[in-house]
Formats: sequence, C-alpha cells, structure tokens
Amino acid sequence: MKRRLRSVITEHKELAPHIFSLKLKTEMSAEAVPGQFIGIYPKDGARILMRPISICDSDAETGELRMVYRAAGKGTAEISGYGAGESLDILGMLGNGYDLEAVKEKKVILLGGGIGIPPMLYSAKRLKEQGTEVTAVLGYADSNTFLKEDFEKYCTVQIASMEGSVGTKGTVIDAMNENGTEGDVIFACGPMPMLKAVKSYAADHGMQAFISLEERMACGVGACLGCVVKTREVDHHTHVKNTRICVEGPVFNAEDVDI
Ligand SMILES: Cc1cc2nc3c(=O)[nH]c(=O)nc-3n(C[C@H](O)[C@H](O)[C@H](O)COP(=O)(O)OP(=O)(O)OC[C@H]3O[C@@H](n4cnc5c(N)ncnc54)[C@H](O)[C@@H]3O)c2cc1C
Ligand code: FES
Repeated sequence: MKRRLRSVITEHKELAPHIFSLKLKTEMSAEAVPGQFIGIYPKDGARILMRPISICDSDAETGELRMVYRAAGKGTAEISGYGAGESLDILGMLGNGYDLEAVKEKKVILLGGGIGIPPMLYSAKRLKEQGTEVTAVLGYADSNTFLKEDFEKYCTVQIASMEGSVGTKGTVIDAMNENGTEGDVIFACGPMPMLKAVKSYAADHGMQAFISLEERMACGVGACLGCVVKTREVDHHTHVKNTRICVEGPVFNAEDVDI
C-alpha cells in the first residue's frame, strides 16, 4: 500500500563529496524490495514534489531504511541539511523492484554506475541471503569508491573508474571485459548511456538484463504520465507503446523497453 508517512532521521552523513547516506526510521522498512524507491519530500514550500530515491538497504529489525543520494539540485541539497532526530515525510513503497526468486539458482552480475550503485547494495544483501552467486561491478568517476566495503560483505567486487585511479580505467563494461566476469543475469542501475551499453552487452552475450530507469519523475504514483518510457509491446494501462516508470518500473527487462 502506497502512503505518505512521517519518518525520523537516525543517521545522516556525507560519504564522499555531495554523496550522502541517510537512515530513516519508518514502518515501511519491513516492506522494502530491492529496486524499489521512496519519495522524500523537501520541507521548503516552494518545492512540493517528492524526490525519488532508491532503497540502498533495509533493516526490518531496527525499522530503518537507508538511502544513498547525490545532492544534485535544490531539493536534495535541502534534504542534505537535515540531521539525526529531525523528521522527513516520505511516500512509499514505490515501484516494482527486482524479482530475486526468479534468479535464485543463477549467477547474477550487479552493475552499478555512479549514483546507480546504492540500489545494488540491497540486491547484493538479499541475493546472498538466498544463496545466489553474485559479482558486483561498480563504476565510479574517481577514487571516491563509496559503499565498496559494504558490497564486500556480500559478494565479489570489481571496480571501474573513469579517470583510472582505481580498478579498470573506463566503464563497468570495460571492467567486465577486462576481468572476464561471468554470469547468467544482469541487474543494472546507472546513467542512460550505461544502461544502453548494458542492454547491447546482454544481447551480444545471450544474457538477460534487468535495468532500473532513474528518469525524471513528478507524482511517483502513476497519475501524471510524466515518467513514461517507450516499450516494445502495447502497455495495459496507457494502451500505447509507453509505460510508466514509477509504477510498472523502475525495473524492466531490457528487451521490453526502447532506450
Ligand atoms: C526511481 C528513481 C530512483 C532514484 N534513486 C536515486 C538514488 O538512490 N540516489 C540518487 O542520488 N538519486 C536517485 N534518483 C535521482 C534523484 O531523484 C534526483 O537526483 C533528484 O530528484 C533531484 O532532485 P533535486 O531537487 O535535487 O533537483 P532539481 O533539479 O531541483 O529537481 C527538480 C524536479 O525534478 C525532479 N528530478 C530531477 N532530476 C531527477 C532525476 N534524475 N530523477 C527523477 N526526478 C528528478 C525532482 O524530483 C524534482 O521534482 C532516482 C530517481 C528515480 C526516478
Ligand atoms: S511520475 Fe507521475 S506517472 Fe510516473
């Protein structure tokens, strides 16, 4: 059930320049599926739209959700200014998430690029819990390898960096080519050029790829059609070859979307 709830910040810290880790105490933590996201509302009345941020981790025991986000514009910059003990309104749980059960017996490659890295952490944790073999390939801009140690708790980690200061110089695709990374299924999140490259890599290697699209959103609940992506088949809701990322996604089989 989607609802707007008040949550309390339990931890908020800067992991790398402009990259923040935010923990929120909320009853929604018990429902979170990897790949889903929440909407965080700025408090400034000039910014009424929620900001969609993926679940990076969820701890049902402590009742905390963790998000890792970049302070990209005015809304996220405002959110980054709130500290432990303060409250934030959130909308959730949003989106579909990855089907972990379907890949239980397979070898999964998690590909995260930049601020697409955080949602892969919760996938790594839950895949490890169900005994699935996982390799994470993480693509950074530079040597600020935020979350790397967190991933190492759950899986083999390979690194790429665009400037070449750590790991393979280049993209996550370059790292897979250099390391001969093997798997049956890819889960990926990152910038659109990376997702396009992942789609064609998967097609060339006979692999399935599930990609998370983090495009601009407004309502987050399927009402405004502000987040549609072109699809191969006619969509059951829109009746055209367009689907809503916030409801039918953000995770799609790469073959089903025209990116
Ligand atoms: C499903 C999903 C998951 C996401 N997960 C993360 C995450 O885990 N970490 C992270 O750092 N970022 C994530 N993003 C991107 C994040 O939502 C934007 O960076 C953020 O909304 C920018 O808001 P702003 O107020 O700082 O920027 P502004 O440019 O001031 O935002 C203006 C408006 O545009 C919307 N908007 C701007 N950029 C984006 C964008 N890229 N995606 C969606 N809406 C946008 C805002 O929500 C707001 O309504 C995700 C986006 C989506 C759609
Ligand atoms: S953001 Fe409104 S329909 Fe998706």
